[in-house]
Amino acid sequence: MTDTAKITLGDVSVDSPVLKGSVGPDVIDIRKLYAQTGAFTYDPGFTSTASCESEITYIDGDEGVLLHRGYAIGDLAEQSSFMEVCYLLLNGELPSGDELADFDNTITRHTMLHEQLATFYRGFRRDAHPMAIMCGVVGALSAFYHDSTEIHDPRQRMIASHRLIAKMPTIAAMAYKYSVGQPFVYPRNDLSYTGNFLRMTFGVPAEEYVVNPVVERALDRIFILHADHEQNASTSTVRLAGSSGANPFACIAAGIACLWGPAHGGANEAALNMLREIGRPERIPEYIARAKDKDDPFRLMGFGHRVYKNYDPRATVMQKTVREVFDALKVNDPVFEVALQLEEMALNDPYFVEKKLFPNVDFYSGVILSAIGFPTTMFTALFALARTVGWVAQWNEMISDPAQKIGRPRQLYTGPTQRAYVPVDKR
Ligand code: ACO
Repeated sequence: MTDTAKITLGDVSVDSPVLKGSVGPDVIDIRKLYAQTGAFTYDPGFTSTASCESEITYIDGDEGVLLHRGYAIGDLAEQSSFMEVCYLLLNGELPSGDELADFDNTITRHTMLHEQLATFYRGFRRDAHPMAIMCGVVGALSAFYHDSTEIHDPRQRMIASHRLIAKMPTIAAMAYKYSVGQPFVYPRNDLSYTGNFLRMTFGVPAEEYVVNPVVERALDRIFILHADHEQNASTSTVRLAGSSGANPFACIAAGIACLWGPAHGGANEAALNMLREIGRPERIPEYIARAKDKDDPFRLMGFGHRVYKNYDPRATVMQKTVREVFDALKVNDPVFEVALQLEEMALNDPYFVEKKLFPNVDFYSGVILSAIGFPTTMFTALFALARTVGWVAQWNEMISDPAQKIGRPRQLYTGPTQRAYVPVDKR
């Protein structure tokens, strides 16, 4: 028997079905509430609202658990590869050896961009933020790949998904190359997805670029850690944009725009800037005090999360990866020591303990990316690159869901009630 939740409003009482997921909190189905009671629910920021049904990713924020298709993020980060995780997110199961080789080959063979897109870059100022370029270029893909924009054809949807995953490193690397005034570097099919991206970013035609395997593995792991995160702001943006039937390239461009904000994907850039500003461990207490001060808008960047009220499991892997990269590249950046001590001090401070504020994935990722050589402006572009698979997997799931409707929230209107128009000479 289905459980029901009784909602009473004045004289009207309705029974709303309570839906059960495979794991996680129950969900009250209020789809008929307005028709039955004439009232809406109010939930700005969606803190208590599930916007869709999904089989892709599960998060238990209290326990610090993140599962993709049932597999723990720690296991995937340790034992899997980004290509394998892409396959898993898109198809629901881990690939066999042959399936993985086939998928890898498909992605590798979609990495080149239409040559005319190179001229598109030249329309941007050299100091354009890579995310500004990414929004523009990814949106423009729909003008170049007309044969994969029929969203009701599953095959075209999959081709668009492969194209987006494959081309994103090329697009991001070209944005970087453009900003530093170096020639674009074409993809090479004998390199891994991540090795290829490193070469397209840091390689120059004047000499052969040798991929450092430790850096390649670290970056691949960072991509895994960012691959999907259920219905976060940018993914919800992709779903909302896609709910109107917009083409996949336009939807992913919308996701990139949302990700850019400092409360979301921009946080790793903001976290590293903050750590550099703090500069040395002696200054940490001053910044902790500012973060706690209600009259100061400053927040500890890379701390806190809407869903995680425990240690973000991705931050654990990140912290370990910082050490590996620093050892491999012989980096000695005081910023890591500042990060470690700041984390320890915050985790022992009653303000952060009571509010359950823990380091999130962004707290350490900037430190690693900076050690690898990426400028801070590229951090969010890297996040977009990795999250593309999550966006397309969620978008595909939405389009194939028979219950899918255009997303259209309602509102609590508090503006003026109807009033008479007064001509300008009478005001
Ligand atoms: N530093 C200091 N105080 C904080 C912080 C922080 N980083 N984060 C939250 N708080 C406080 C808030 O002031 C608030 O206090 P109050 O209850 O006394 O008003 C309380 O903790 C709850 O914070 P909210 O903003 O209501 O929580 P919400 O779930 O809306 O926000 C968010 C989550 C946006 C991530 C927030 O913690 C934040 O701004 N963190 C810093 C930015 C950041 O690291 N973003 C990355 C998120 S992860 C990602 O996108 C991959």
